[in-house]
Amino acid sequence: MALICFWVSCFLCLELSSLAFSNPDGFLSLSCGGTADFVDSSAIPWVSDGDYIATGNTTSVEYLEGTSSSSVPLRFFPNSGGRKCYRLPLANNVSSSVVLLRAQFVYKNYDGLGKPPAFSVSLGTAITSSVNLTASDPWSEEFVWPVGKETASFCLLPIPGAGDPVISSVEVRPLPRGAYQGGVGDFPFKSLRKAYRINSGYTNGSLRYPVDPYDRIWDADENYNPFHVSSGFNVFLGLNTSTVAEDPPVSVLQTARVLARSDVLTYNLPLGVPADYYIVLYFAGILPVSPAFDVVVNGDMVELDYSVQMGEAYALYLTRKAIDNLNLTLRSTRFYPQINGIEVYQIVDIPLEASSTTVSALQVIQQATGLELGWEDDPCSPSEWVHVGCEGSLVTSLELSDVNLRAISPTFGDLLDLKTLDLHNTSLAGEIQNLGSLQQLETLNLSFNQLTSFGGELGKLVGLQVLDLQNNSLEGVVPDRLGELENLHLLNLENNKLQGTLPESLNKESLEVKASGNICVSFSAMTCNDASSNPSIETPQVTIFAKKNPENRNHLAIIVGAAGGSLLALLVISVALLLYTRKDRTEVPFEQRDGIDMIHMKSWNSARVFSYKEIKSATNNFKQVIGRGSFGSVYHGKLVDGKLVAVKVRFDRSQLGAESFINEVHLLSRIRHQNLVCLEGFCYESKQQILVYEYLPGGSLADYLYGSKSSNSQKVSLSWIRRLKIAVDAAKGLEYLHNGSDPRIIHRDVKCSNILLDKDMNARVCDFGLSKQLVQSDASHVTTVVKGTAGYLDPEYYSTQQLTEKSDVYSFGVVLLELICGREPLCHTGTPDSFNLVLWAKPYLQAGALEIVDDNLKGTFDVESMRKASMVAVRCVDRDASERPTIAQVLAELKEAYSIQLAYLASCDL
Ligand SMILES: *[C@@H]1O[C@H](CO)[C@@H](O)[C@H](O)[C@H]1NC(C)=O
Ligand SMILES: *[C@@H]1O[C@H](CO)[C@@H](O)[C@H](O)[C@H]1NC(C)=O
Ligand SMILES: *[C@@H]1O[C@H](CO)[C@@H](O)[C@H](O)[C@H]1NC(C)=O
Ligand SMILES: *[C@@H]1O[C@H](CO)[C@@H](O)[C@H](O)[C@H]1NC(C)=O
Ligand SMILES: *[C@@H]1O[C@H](CO)[C@@H](O)[C@H](O)[C@H]1NC(C)=O
Ligand SMILES: *[C@@H]1O[C@H](CO)[C@@H](O)[C@H](O)[C@H]1NC(C)=O
Ligand SMILES: *[C@@H]1O[C@H](CO)[C@@H](O)[C@H](O)[C@H]1NC(C)=O
Ligand SMILES: *[C@@H]1O[C@H](CO)[C@@H](O)[C@H](O)[C@H]1NC(C)=O
Repeated sequence: MALICFWVSCFLCLELSSLAFSNPDGFLSLSCGGTADFVDSSAIPWVSDGDYIATGNTTSVEYLEGTSSSSVPLRFFPNSGGRKCYRLPLANNVSSSVVLLRAQFVYKNYDGLGKPPAFSVSLGTAITSSVNLTASDPWSEEFVWPVGKETASFCLLPIPGAGDPVISSVEVRPLPRGAYQGGVGDFPFKSLRKAYRINSGYTNGSLRYPVDPYDRIWDADENYNPFHVSSGFNVFLGLNTSTVAEDPPVSVLQTARVLARSDVLTYNLPLGVPADYYIVLYFAGILPVSPAFDVVVNGDMVELDYSVQMGEAYALYLTRKAIDNLNLTLRSTRFYPQINGIEVYQIVDIPLEASSTTVSALQVIQQATGLELGWEDDPCSPSEWVHVGCEGSLVTSLELSDVNLRAISPTFGDLLDLKTLDLHNTSLAGEIQNLGSLQQLETLNLSFNQLTSFGGELGKLVGLQVLDLQNNSLEGVVPDRLGELENLHLLNLENNKLQGTLPESLNKESLEVKASGNICVSFSAMTCNDASSNPSIETPQVTIFAKKNPENRNHLAIIVGAAGGSLLALLVISVALLLYTRKDRTEVPFEQRDGIDMIHMKSWNSARVFSYKEIKSATNNFKQVIGRGSFGSVYHGKLVDGKLVAVKVRFDRSQLGAESFINEVHLLSRIRHQNLVCLEGFCYESKQQILVYEYLPGGSLADYLYGSKSSNSQKVSLSWIRRLKIAVDAAKGLEYLHNGSDPRIIHRDVKCSNILLDKDMNARVCDFGLSKQLVQSDASHVTTVVKGTAGYLDPEYYSTQQLTEKSDVYSFGVVLLELICGREPLCHTGTPDSFNLVLWAKPYLQAGALEIVDDNLKGTFDVESMRKASMVAVRCVDRDASERPTIAQVLAELKEAYSIQLAYLASCDL
C-alpha cells in the first residue's frame, strides 16, 4: 500500500519536474525503465536508470490497488543468461560509511503471461536475497551496506526456469557514519537485509523522508503480533538523541508502545528461514517517569532491569544466531515496560573478493581472447564467471577453448591457485611455458593445439595428476623429468611427432601413458630406431640475420631462423664466418662447444672482451646485485680504469646458443646513441654469458615513479616538464632502434624499469636487442617467444603472435600513461575497473578528462601540454596496431608537448 501511494504521488508530481529541487545529500533515486526524470511528493528527484545499466527492456504496467490506479515503469530482462547489474556510485558523499539501498520489484502481469518470476539479488560479492513475486507483488528489499568502494554492483540473477527478472526502482541513501555497527563484529564483511523497521506506538501510516533525513521507512505499529494490547503514547519532552549512532528521527522516538495494564509487553515477529539476525531496539525517556524492565529475546534474558531515564534516548544492539522467529518480551521491574522503535535485519556475509592479481590477470586473458566474456567485478562471487571455477575466493579452474590464444602468455603464471587449466583448441604454438609457478595445478589439458616443445617448466608442477598433450606437434623425445612428477597418473601424448624411447621413469604402475599416433615412441629401445640421442627438445633458437645493403656486408652479416637438426650445420657455418673475420689468435680460452673452438677477438667495434677474472674482480666477486631480470642478475662493478659498470650475468637456462650470443653482442656493440645504454663489452667464458654495460647512477624511471625496490631510496616526485623530457629522450632512443640502426631492432620489453637516468636526468633505454631476435631489415615482423612484461604487452600479440615496432609503441604508450597518471600498469588495489591502467585511463583521457592525472602534478602543468601528451598516449595504446602512430610521430608530438610546457613555465616565472 505504501508503494502505491508513493507511485501515485510520483505520478502527480511529474509535472513539477521542471522545478529545481536539489537532491538531498547523496541520494540516488532510479526509476527503472522510467523515461522521464521527476520529483516526488517528498521533493526527492528521480532519474531514469539508463545511465546505470546497459541491458534489459523497459515497459510500464498499470494496476489497481484499493481504489487508485497507477502506472509503474519497470525494466525486465528477457531470456537472460548471466547476472544483470546496476553499477551504483556509493561515494558521492564520502562522509558516510554505510548506505541504505532499497529496491522495489513489480510484476503485476505486465507481460500478460500470469507467471510472476523468482530470482536472486546480489550486492557486491554477496547474494543478499531471493525475490519471489508469486509470494508478494510488489516486493521490496532493503539493505544496509558498508561502503568499501566507489561503486557497488547491484545485480539480478535469473533462476533457470523461474521467469525473467524485473525491477522498478532503486534508491541509495547515505546513513549516519558509524550507524548499525554496534554489536555486529566484523562489519565490513557483513551486510544487513531489512526484515522489520517499526515505529512503535504509531499507527497512522509510515514515516520517511523528510521526517527521517536518511529516508528510512518506519512502518506503523499496527500489523505486528500482538498488536492490540495498547495504543501508543505520544509525549514529547525534548529528547537528547545524540547518544544514538543511528540518529533515529525524534518523531519516531516520541511515540512508544507502553503497557499500562500488564507487566509484560511482547512482539512476536516471524522471520522465515533460520538465519542470523541483528536487532536494534530504541528506547526514549518520553514519560514523566523512568521505567525499568527486563529484556528477554526468544527466552534469553539479554538485559536485566534495563532503565530508561527521562529525556534520554538509547539503542540496544543484539544479534541472534539461526532464528526463524523473534519473540521480544519486556518484563516490568519498575513502572511500565515500553519500547519506541525496533529494527530487525538479517545478517548477510559478504564473501571475500578474489585476489586482485588474479582478477587483473584474468582481465588480461579476457583481452587476449578478443571475446566479450562478461568478466566483470569478482570472478567468484556472487556467481562464478563463465569458464572460471572457484573454491571460496580462490580461482581454481580456468577452461578456455575454441579461441585463438597463440601462446601461453606470462599472465597464466599469475593464476596461482589454479588446480585445473584447460586450454584445448586455443591455437597454442611453440613451447609449453610460463606455467612453472602454478604449484597447485592438478589437471593440465593443452590438447588440440600446435605446441612443438615441452619447455623446461613441466617438471616443476609437482601436484600434476593429469597431463593431456594429445594432438599437438610435439617433437623429439619425451623428457625424463616428466617421470619425476610423483602424482601424475595420466599422461596423454597421442598424435604428436615424438620419437625415441620413453624415459624409464615413466614406466610405472601408477601412471597410464598414452602415446599412439607418434612417429615412434615406446619404452623399448629395440622397437624404434633409437632417436633418443637427438637433443632437439630444447633446441635453442638460432638466429641469423641478413644485412639490408649487401655491399656493406661485413663479417657476421647473416641471420636465418632455424631450429632442430640444422643447429649443428648452422653453427659450423657461423663459426666459419667468425673465424674468417678473426684478426688475431686468442690467448684467452673461449667457450668450447661441440668440439669447436669459438672465436676470440680483442675488441669489437668499441666493445671490449673481458676475461672472467676481470669481471670477477670488477664486481668484487659478484657482491652487489643492482637488478634482477628474467634473464639473470645485474651486478655493480668497477673497472680497473675506475669506470662504473653494470654487469649482466645470464642464468644458465636463459643462455643463448654460442653463435646467437656472439651475433647479438656484435650487433649491440655497434649501437651507439645518446639515449641508449651503451654496451662496454662482454665476457664469454667458464660457461658464462656476461654483458658489461655503462652504469647509470640515476636508477630507473620506475624507481622515480614508484620508489626503488633494490635500495631504500625514497620515491621522488618528478615535475611534468621532467617527465616530458624523459619521455622525449626515451622516444629518441626507441626511434633510433626502429629507424636508425641497421638492422632495425624491436625492443620488445619497453617499460619504466628499462628506462634509466644518468646523473643529469637524461633518460636512456636499456635492455634492447638482447636475447630477442633481431629484425631482418626487410622483414615487417619477427615471430618469437613472448618475453614482454604483463601490463605492457601489445594486445595484438595475442592474436597475431607477432611483435612489430608498433608493439614497442604500445608499450611506450603504457609508459606515457604511467608518467601521466603516476601509477603502475597493473595495480592490485582499488576497484576492478582500475586494475589495468590502459583500460582505466583510456576513456578518461579520450574524453579530455584530466582528473586522473597524477595528484603530484595537479596545478603545475599546462592543460594543452598534458592534453597533447595524453592524446598521443591514448593513440599508442590503440588495440589496433595499424591505428598506432610510429615512434617518430610520437616523438614529434612529445616534443611539442614539451615546448608548450616550457612556455607555460616561462610565463609562470614572469
Ligand atoms: C527486448 O528488446 C530487444 C531489443 O531492443 C527486442 O529485440 C526484444 O524483442 C525485446 N523483448 C521483449 C520481450 O520485449
Ligand atoms: C557530504 O555531506 C556533508 C554533510 O552531510 C556536506 O557538508 C558535504 O559537502 C558533502 N560532500 C559531498 C562531496 O557531497
Ligand atoms: C515462490 O512462491 C510460491 C508460493 O508462495 C511457491 O510456490 C514457489 O515455489 C516459490 N518459487 C520459488 C522459486 O521459490
Ligand atoms: C493521519 O495522517 C493523516 C495524513 O497523513 C492526517 O490527515 C490525519 O489527521 C492523521 N490522523 C491522526 C489520527 O493523527
Ligand atoms: C546529550 O547527551 C550527551 C551525552 O550524554 C551530552 O554530551 C550532551 O550535552 C547532551 N545534549 C543535550 C542537548 O543535552
Ligand atoms: C514469547 O516469550 C515469552 C517469554 O519468553 C513467552 O511467555 C511467550 O509465550 C512467547 N510467545 C510466543 C508466541 O512464543
Ligand atoms: C577449435 O576452435 C575453432 C575456433 O577457434 C572451431 O572452429 C573448431 O571447431 C574447434 N575444433 C574443435 C575440434 O573443437
Ligand atoms: C582435454 O580436452 C579434450 C578436448 O575437450 C578432451 O577430449 C579430453 O578428454 C580432455 N582431457 C582430459 C584429461 O580431460
